[in-house]
Amino acid sequence: MTQAVGIARAHTNIALIKYWGKRDQELFLPMNSSLSLTLDAFYTDTKVIFDDTYTADSFSLNGKEQSEKEIQKISRFLDLFREYIGEGRFARVESLNFVPTAAGLASSASAFAALALASADALKLNMTPQELSTFARRGSGSSTRSLFGGFVQWDMGTGSADSMAYPIDDADWDIGMLVLAVDTKEKKIASRVGMEHTVQTSPFYPAWLETTKEDLSAIKTAILAKDFETLGQITEHNGMKMHATTLSANPPFTYWTADSLLAQEAVRQVREDLHLQVYMTMDAGPNVKVLCRASDMERLVQALSAYLPAEKIIKSLPGPAASILSQEDWQASHQKFSERI
Ligand code: DP6
Repeated sequence: MTQAVGIARAHTNIALIKYWGKRDQELFLPMNSSLSLTLDAFYTDTKVIFDDTYTADSFSLNGKEQSEKEIQKISRFLDLFREYIGEGRFARVESLNFVPTAAGLASSASAFAALALASADALKLNMTPQELSTFARRGSGSSTRSLFGGFVQWDMGTGSADSMAYPIDDADWDIGMLVLAVDTKEKKIASRVGMEHTVQTSPFYPAWLETTKEDLSAIKTAILAKDFETLGQITEHNGMKMHATTLSANPPFTYWTADSLLAQEAVRQVREDLHLQVYMTMDAGPNVKVLCRASDMERLVQALSAYLPAEKIIKSLPGPAASILSQEDWQASHQKFSERI
């Protein structure tokens, strides 16, 4: 029996300049470059075992065996690695998602980043994290960015080999993020489907692409200058523009619910009342994420609890890059997971 084992942890990330649209569906090549903040509060731990006695791939998530459909997604992803080095063995994948259910955050970014790093570790692939991000990309675009900590850019690239992510800044300058988890139900329109429909039908899409280029260059200047106000203003504007493309798609749709609008209103009110630098962004779901100063987080939570239940407000600081875990770390992770449910 030959066995190859790899274990890794990757944190989730929230885009400040959104990835919205693919120019190649198969290769997950994006229409635009994007930039995100990795969060420490939410992560996925994954163990992969390639074993020549296995007769098929299998996948368990949070201790539950997954359906054939979920296994197929994992298999297709592992095939990229198997084809790359001529590996014939099937694999067992076990993942634990440390994303509070209440956060309602999609976990595909941390999931594929953790699986990519665990696979590279198991198969002893000699790759830089940047190169590895081109593999992670094929599982889910946003996972490219979860291989790195702090502020991270994903370059659209000219082709598959250079559409990769890299770190911009470690975000250790009084940065925080709140997730206002207004609704934790599964999203109705997957980002993959929503972005495709938007690219094809929204007359605003070309304007989105054009102005996002400018946003990206301006936000990078703001990050390097540690100019939080400009960083926040660009983040809020870019997110709103992404959502304007869904409202202008045909037929139109939106990820916002009535509760999202109430949460947005609460953020605006608190910003005005407390004169705090707080900026919001939203993804392919109803929850609102608030970029703020880490040092303002407690005051902010208190002020926002006048508008929504305190247990729906989840705090996070910037998170680190993905990392390889030991067998002891994996056991500790299981222990932690069992204690939280
Ligand atoms: C709105 O990475 O989930 O969160 O590549 O099709 O898996 P696929 O899409 P995904 O899309 C993320 C969209 C977004 C913006 C972002 O994270 O940049």
